[in-house]
Amino acid sequence: MHAAGALAARILDDVAALVVPGTTTEALDTFIEDEVNKAGAKSATIGYKGYKHASCISVNHVVCHGIPGPKTLKDGDILNIDVTVIVDGWFGDTSRMYVAGKLPRKAERLIQITHDALFKGIEAVKPGNTFGDIGHAIQAYVEAHRMSVVRDFCGHGLGRVFHAPPNVLHYGRPTSGAVLEEGMFFTIEPMVNLGRPETKVLADDWTAVTRDKSLSAQFEHSVGVTADGMEIFTLSPSGKFHPTF
Ligand code: MF3
Ligand code: CO
Ligand code: CO
Repeated sequence: MHAAGALAARILDDVAALVVPGTTTEALDTFIEDEVNKAGAKSATIGYKGYKHASCISVNHVVCHGIPGPKTLKDGDILNIDVTVIVDGWFGDTSRMYVAGKLPRKAERLIQITHDALFKGIEAVKPGNTFGDIGHAIQAYVEAHRMSVVRDFCGHGLGRVFHAPPNVLHYGRPTSGAVLEEGMFFTIEPMVNLGRPETKVLADDWTAVTRDKSLSAQFEHSVGVTADGMEIFTLSPSGKFHPTF
């Protein structure tokens, strides 16, 4: 988990320099695929349920699972880049927000709240707390800032598999749900919208967008429960997790 998490995070560090107006999301994905291969690792997403790319790249009102393609980024576009790698059979899954060019003020606020909401969830990870405590911490923080938490997608157990139980919801009630135990590995990956929480999946069967076309942001870490708290496997090796710009 350490090696897989560190590789995914290092690739997210290195792709940052390529995120500029005029580039395409498929160029970013090609860089990511090359980095995975150069490291002697495997992409978890290529071939996963027919998905063909080494990353998901979700621009502006795309909530998640955006497919890299030939569209060029414009000044002020915000995007999530999500990378999952397999190292020696173990999975590292992480995503962050980036901006092409100048960051618009309302997008900056969305990105900051989403990042901080992920950490509110991470701070609730310790033995004896529940998955509901994690979801509640995220939801309470986001809604206090009058933004909304996406319900249609969630975090997941991972380890030697990509997506394992439980579903890690980013909303919920304190003390509800399964109890956290030392040795559990899972992701927390809240998606936050400036508008309403509803999403829809486009005809390509992957791209999820906000129904009201409002901007959406997401950050994801892979974490493990330790004896007295948690460990984040996907922290930026260069300390660059946020901001990435
Ligand atoms: N990395 C995503 C997650 O956080 C899953 C992507 S699956 C794909 O769980 F097929 F769309 F790449
Ligand atoms: Co994930
Ligand atoms: Co992911």
